[in-house]
Amino acid sequence: MMLKNHIGRKDIISCVLCKDAPCSNACPKLDPAKAIRSVWFDNQDIAAIKLPKESPCASCDAPCEKACIKSGKVPVKSVISRLIEEVCPETEIDIPEDEKRLACDICGIPLENPFLLSSSVVASTYDMCARAFEAGWAGISFKTICSFDIHEASPRYSAIKGDNGSLIGFKNIEQLSDHSVAENMEIFRRLKEKYPTKFILASIMGQDEEEWESLAKLCEENGANAIELNFSCPNMQKDGLGSDIGQIPELVEKYTRAAKRGTTIPVLAKLTPNVAKMSPAAEAALRGGADGIAAINTIKSVIGVSPYTYVSSPAVKGKSAIGGYSGSAVKPIALRFISEVAQNPKLKNLHISGMGGVETWRDALEFILMGSGSIQVTTAVMQYGYRIVEDLKAGLNYYLAQMGIASVKDLIGAGLDSVSDTTDVLERDTILFPSFNLEKCIGCGRCVISCNDGGHQAIKFENRVPKLDGSKCVGCHLCRLVCPEEAINTSNKRIHRPAPTKS
Ligand SMILES: Cc1cc2nc3c(=O)[nH]c(=O)nc-3n(C[C@H](O)[C@H](O)[C@H](O)COP(=O)(O)O)c2cc1C
Repeated sequence: MMLKNHIGRKDIISCVLCKDAPCSNACPKLDPAKAIRSVWFDNQDIAAIKLPKESPCASCDAPCEKACIKSGKVPVKSVISRLIEEVCPETEIDIPEDEKRLACDICGIPLENPFLLSSSVVASTYDMCARAFEAGWAGISFKTICSFDIHEASPRYSAIKGDNGSLIGFKNIEQLSDHSVAENMEIFRRLKEKYPTKFILASIMGQDEEEWESLAKLCEENGANAIELNFSCPNMQKDGLGSDIGQIPELVEKYTRAAKRGTTIPVLAKLTPNVAKMSPAAEAALRGGADGIAAINTIKSVIGVSPYTYVSSPAVKGKSAIGGYSGSAVKPIALRFISEVAQNPKLKNLHISGMGGVETWRDALEFILMGSGSIQVTTAVMQYGYRIVEDLKAGLNYYLAQMGIASVKDLIGAGLDSVSDTTDVLERDTILFPSFNLEKCIGCGRCVISCNDGGHQAIKFENRVPKLDGSKCVGCHLCRLVCPEEAINTSNKRIHRPAPTKS
């Protein structure tokens, strides 16, 4: 079943998803800000179903748009009207009444849904975790606990932004929790008492075997459901910590074994993507007794080199440092590592807690299809707030109901058969042509430019209409990807054309 996609981010690109949205405050009948936020996070159908069947917008002079802080740039009224008039009539099911399909587990311990905050600033105090639980997150991986002093730099973040100002890639040079171990244990006790069914994954980092063991023990004693071993922070000041460990399988095995000695609850090794392959470290974790893998932590990066100071970003008094990259930009890399671990037969009994760039339920679904049994999120929460969990849960639940899938667990790893770590397996003797929807085409010619200069000169441009020359088209689909109007699709026309051999 194809999911429809009538309205998307492109239609509300000027919306800044603001707090206490004036559009909703100005509208006497609806909550347009909530509907628009659902569209932003890929929940068009749900936004449409929640609106009244009869549009109250027709006779309205759009106070929502007048109140909008973007001075009328967001087409609130037309988006709401389109949701009611175009999207709602085509929805196939109602919003499911319960969220039973989302129930899953980490190593047998129940989770009400697959979504946890990942270890970072977003899960670093009692108040923050409590608010996240109230918002609907099933659990938290608490900000990594350690016994050594932490002094953070300022500023500590930088980003690559998309055309509408949203964060695409995010760099941080942040380290670990600056609370004492005792303070963090107190937080665990209070959280467990108030929220007994929520999942506390205690992220820890020791400096030697004794410390890995004692931290794991303390976390269990104070209410953690499972332990996450941080073998992957790329921002540590001293050598031999964080991702330095994750790159050396012998150390991963040794410290996993040490942590396992201190605890009876499940232990997940959080691994670094700063390696060619993740399997050696994952197999080492298994040998040390790990019950699961968490991945990915951030990717070592340099961004934003200033043309005037020649210093990269974030600059701290004229200096910067290699730091960890996260957010949407890293999702393909995360999925690649997750699929590698999930496909490794030696690791088949390990739980995989996947993360790296999850913003929407579709992102989460991709991680599940590649083998993740739970999902963790930081950067999207830093950008949009805990509230994104509403759309993560609602979207995934709606999708499962629409597809007739009883449990999210049925989809774990369901897409793995399609992934090969070599391109040798691919059939190469046929070509799939793109197909042009001339009703949607606005005649911009971008497909022609790209095909001419980055492809195989297979699209002619006559009277501003693109025309495919099938004898030249190699079926690369660059045209489809650059089309700003989504007017080029994949056809079902596949022709036999074996590649010529070089002689
Ligand atoms: C500001 C910041 C601080 C982080 N701190 C930690 C940490 O203390 N421990 C840890 O294991 N991972 C830490 N991470 C990594 C995240 O938990 C996560 O693995 C990574 O950001 C990828 O997920 P995302 O794209 O959803 O952010 C941090 C990430 C960010 C952005």
